Parts: sequence; structure tokens; C-alpha cells
Amino acid sequence: SITQEQKAIIKSTAPILKENGKEIASMFYKQMFENHPELLDIFNQTNQKIGTQPLALANTIYFAAENIDNLETIMPLIKHITHKHRALTIQPEHYPIVGKYLLLAIQQFLGDKSTQDILDAWAAAYNIIANIFIDIEKQLYDELGPNEEDKGFVPLTIVKKEVIAHESIVALTLEHPQNGKMFKFHVGQYLTIRIRKDGNFHNRHYSLTRPFDGKSYSIAIKIENMNEIKGVVSNEIINNYNIGDTILASFPAGTFQLVENGKHHLFIGGGVGITVLSSMIHELNKQGKSNDAILIHCVPSEEYAAFNAELKSILPEGYYQLFCKDQRLGKDDLEKVLKSDTQVYICGSVPFMDRIESLLVECGHPSSQIHVKAFQPTLSTTKD
Ligand code: HEM
Repeated sequence: SITQEQKAIIKSTAPILKENGKEIASMFYKQMFENHPELLDIFNQTNQKIGTQPLALANTIYFAAENIDNLETIMPLIKHITHKHRALTIQPEHYPIVGKYLLLAIQQFLGDKSTQDILDAWAAAYNIIANIFIDIEKQLYDELGPNEEDKGFVPLTIVKKEVIAHESIVALTLEHPQNGKMFKFHVGQYLTIRIRKDGNFHNRHYSLTRPFDGKSYSIAIKIENMNEIKGVVSNEIINNYNIGDTILASFPAGTFQLVENGKHHLFIGGGVGITVLSSMIHELNKQGKSNDAILIHCVPSEEYAAFNAELKSILPEGYYQLFCKDQRLGKDDLEKVLKSDTQVYICGSVPFMDRIESLLVECGHPSSQIHVKAFQPTLSTTKD
């Protein structure tokens, strides 16, 4: 538990964490990996290199500390993180390790400004948050039933592999060998893939592009420039995994979803962000509700519009709108398609989503009806 004084300490020291979150978290990860190299199999090393993951952790603790009296308000964020943790097979015994190195990093960062009271307050805050995460993650593991092996990474067989969208995206379909159990999922969720490369496991999340058909999972992977650190896992899968091969995946996770009983849906995708929106549109079509769905896809040019033909064929005339580089999506375009009760789903790069969100704000659209799905770790970018 945490005392009133400790809450006050958290609130007064939280700004230091926020301002220096990146530095503190980088110290934290460095020492944690030195002492627990096994965790290199769990953490995304690219996010470490570009600094997004360290910042996400620091910002979450800060954010939770700020809301420590009213954690309900950050429940959607907590749920989102716990889904990702479960998909990566994070266990309760990992929490004390993370807690230990986080506190050590705070202590080292504060130097002679650090006091036992400050450290105790942060330890208390961390423990509260960690216990909430552990409880919710236990429920998520329980949902996968009694078999231990279903809670981790399982080998799935690649039954289909095809290049789509101007050779820039590869679509894969995976099935369980020997008709083993495939868990159902809701559209908006992702599949976490694990590959081995250079002595470590590497895990990545890919949106499921089709509603569940009872036996297979379909994902789409963007081909990245070979010289960039960003595409190491995607490119490895594309280059070295073929039809008939098995690949490790944990069962689908994620909290992004269609709003239940939503009347009108507007999907806005930037480039490969179409993958997750595609499954949602297919789902509405299955329910006979594609008349309520409008899609705006922003791409450099038409060849890049993945799933173009199939989405066009299920959406009514004029409900599939392509915006290529030379015709930038603007406020007027949104006003034409927005109704007051429209639920808007956005997926794309962070700058893309930020721009669309501000256009929607300009249109006066309620933020409770705007749903975003980022490729980057949540809270890895600070908005204020
Ligand atoms: C992802 C927070 C504990 C491993 C994340 C994300 C946040 C976060 C905000 C980003 C989610 C996203 O991608 O949108 C926290 C907090 C923790 C905690 C506040 C403690 C209370 C742990 C523990 C582990 C862990 C104990 C395992 C040792 C990871 C990994 C990712 C992740 C591997 C995925 C991102 C990557 O691979 O770079 N966590 N986490 N976390 N977390 Fe945690």
C-alpha cells in the first residue's frame, strides 16, 4: 500500500521522471540487460535503439503515479499494455527484476538528491502498478485455457505467402499443424511472431487482416529498406520463411476493436495501416453492415493501396476513397463524410495519426469517438 505522504512525494518528483524519462530508462535497460541477458529474448532491441520503449515505460509509471488516486481513468491504457505483455509471455517473476533496475536507475539519476523516502515512495507506486498488471495478465493467460503450451509461443505453419501492393507488403496465412487449437480473436487484434536471429529471439506484432475463419490467421508484413534497423524482423520473415515452414506465434491479443453498436464507422489508414482496418471492414461486411463503413486510404500512389480490389468490392460506391500524395486529405474531405455519431478508427505512422487527429478536432468531432492504433509503443511520444 501507499501512504498519503508517499503519494505527495510521487506527485512532486514525477515531473523529474517525465523530463528525464528517456535518460533514466536508458540507464535502467542497460543495467537490467547486463544482469539479465535472458530478457534480450523478450524486449524489442530496435525500440531500445531508437529509444521509444524506454520512454514508454517511464511515461507509464509517471502517468500512473499522476493518476494514482484514480487508476480507473487509465484502465484502457493498462489493458492495452497487459495484452502486449501477455502476447510476449511476460511473467509475474519478471516484475521484481524490472522494479529493481528501475529504482536503481532513479536513484543513480537523482544522485545526492535521492533520499530513502523518495525511493520508498516510488517502490510503493511501482508495486501497486505491477500488481495490477500481474492480476490482469493472469486473467488473460487463464483465458487461454488449461494447457501451458497454449500460453506461450506455438509453431504455426505458413500455408500461403503472397506479395501484395506494389511489392511492398507480404501477406501470410498461418495454420496450426495437425489441426491443433486456434484461438478465436476479434478484429483489431494482432499476432505476435517470434523468430531467432543472431543468437536471440526477436518478437514483433502484426495486425490480423481478416476476421477469424475458424482455422487460420492472416497477417501482412511491410517490406522495409534493408539498410534500416527498423525492418530486421519483417525482412527476415519475408526473405527466409516460405510456404510449408513453421514460425512461432503467440495467440492473438490487443484491445483495439470496433465500437459495439456503433452506427457509422469511418476508417482512415495511412499506408500499411490499412492492415488492421481491413479486418474491421470485412467484419462489418460479414455482419451485413458495410453500408455503415467508409474507408479513406492515404498512400503515395495507387499501386501501394493494399487490399484495394477486395475492399472496393465490398464497400458501396463512393465509400472507398483513395488519397494519393498529390491530393492531401483535408478538413473539407472529412466534413463530407462525418456524421455526429461516426466512430473514427485511425491507423498509420505517428505523424499521420497526429495530423488526422488534429483535423478531426478542427471538425469538432468528439475525442471519445476517435480510436487510434499506433505501430509505435504507446506513450513513447510525448504530446504536451
Ligand atoms: C511494453 C509499461 C513491466 C516487458 C510496454 C509498454 C508499456 C509498458 C507502456 C508499451 C506498450 C505498447 O507497445 O504500446 C510497463 C510498466 C511495467 C512493465 C508500467 C511495470 C509496472 C514489464 C515487465 C516486462 C515488460 C516486468 C518483462 C520483463 C515489456 C516488453 C514490451 C513492453 C517486452 C514490448 C515492447 C518492446 O519489446 O520493446 N510495457 N511494463 N514490461 N513491456 Fe512492459
